[in-house]
Amino acid sequence: MTATETRTQATEIQDWIVEIRRRLHRHPELMYEEVETSKLVRETLDGLGIEYRSPIAKTGVLGWLGDGDGPCVALRADMDALPIHEETDVDFRSEVDGKMHACGHDCHTAMLLGAARLLKERESEIHGTVKLLFQPAEEGGAGGKLMSEEGVLEDPAVERIFGLHVWPELETGQAGSRPGTFLAASSSLTMTVAGKGGHAAMPHLAVDPVHAAAQIITSLQGIVSREADPLNSGVVSITAVHGGEASNVIPPEVQLRGTVRALTMDNLVWIQQRVIDIAAGVAAAHRCEATTQFPGNDYPPTVNDPATWDFARNLAGRMLGDERIEELAPVMGGEDFAYYTERVPGCFVALGIADEQKGTGISVHHPKFKVDEDALPLGTALHVQFAMEMLEELR
Ligand code: NI
Repeated sequence: MTATETRTQATEIQDWIVEIRRRLHRHPELMYEEVETSKLVRETLDGLGIEYRSPIAKTGVLGWLGDGDGPCVALRADMDALPIHEETDVDFRSEVDGKMHACGHDCHTAMLLGAARLLKERESEIHGTVKLLFQPAEEGGAGGKLMSEEGVLEDPAVERIFGLHVWPELETGQAGSRPGTFLAASSSLTMTVAGKGGHAAMPHLAVDPVHAAAQIITSLQGIVSREADPLNSGVVSITAVHGGEASNVIPPEVQLRGTVRALTMDNLVWIQQRVIDIAAGVAAAHRCEATTQFPGNDYPPTVNDPATWDFARNLAGRMLGDERIEELAPVMGGEDFAYYTERVPGCFVALGIADEQKGTGISVHHPKFKVDEDALPLGTALHVQFAMEMLEELR
């Protein structure tokens, strides 16, 4: 089936895909709590007559289709939401205070279920295996790592993997990515700056961690701007500062949180070490003590296999129009799709969702983030076409 025919088929089930997406959107669940989401995925696969394994990676689902006689291609969606309180005007907005699908993972799951439905209709043409990866905990929980550790890439061995992310920087009908490193290596940081509390009117009797923390925050910005090669991208962002309760009390300690990013693991590790050293040194200069930790998972960079991106770019061009496919610059956002592309050639593709009239160009992780749902069947069609053509290619 041609890319255009697949697009038409996907558009015919747009309402079905959108309905699933909206159900997920109303009931966002955070990392490793995707219980209802996982149930909806399983029920939908049951309804389609698609086999699956679950639980996997706690709340994940691994579905599969095909006759098993040939190569194996995987398609991936993530399912988790963010701890953000939704502020959009949509009538299917989140019904859970403080939780929101602000990164579009509801769309990713719905698009892959759409693909599952279309692939089931053509299962007799699938010579080999298409695996459907519905993973938990992309937002910092390294669900992709756990899925991989629990064997989703084996038995049969996945030879290529494809993933999509809704992308407000591209218009609906566009798609983009790049060969090589597309998304950054990332890690979260926490820091405690400890001093000695006391009366704010008598700073000489205390050791002020607020003052030290302020100096640390400023000094950390010298890592990227003064120490790193300007052509070697990195980010250090301090995003949370907590300390003190009263206007006349010097608190005993201050807690900082933030994130560091780089385009290679080596550079990430180097930045982490500089954060530790600078924080300790600056704190010491102010008679305080700083302890830094990187408590989460250090996500590797998401590196696209150049040939696989070429392949996806070509089929996306036939589906959407060559002029609508963009070669994007690397982005400092992190993505745990990286854990799959570390082991299997694959590509991660940005799917445009921006439409000025609909107000859908707002960045992900924003409380007003919205999606142009006309993009969803395009994502479904890209999944399907990638799987079908790649199986053919690998035979
Ligand atoms: Ni995301």
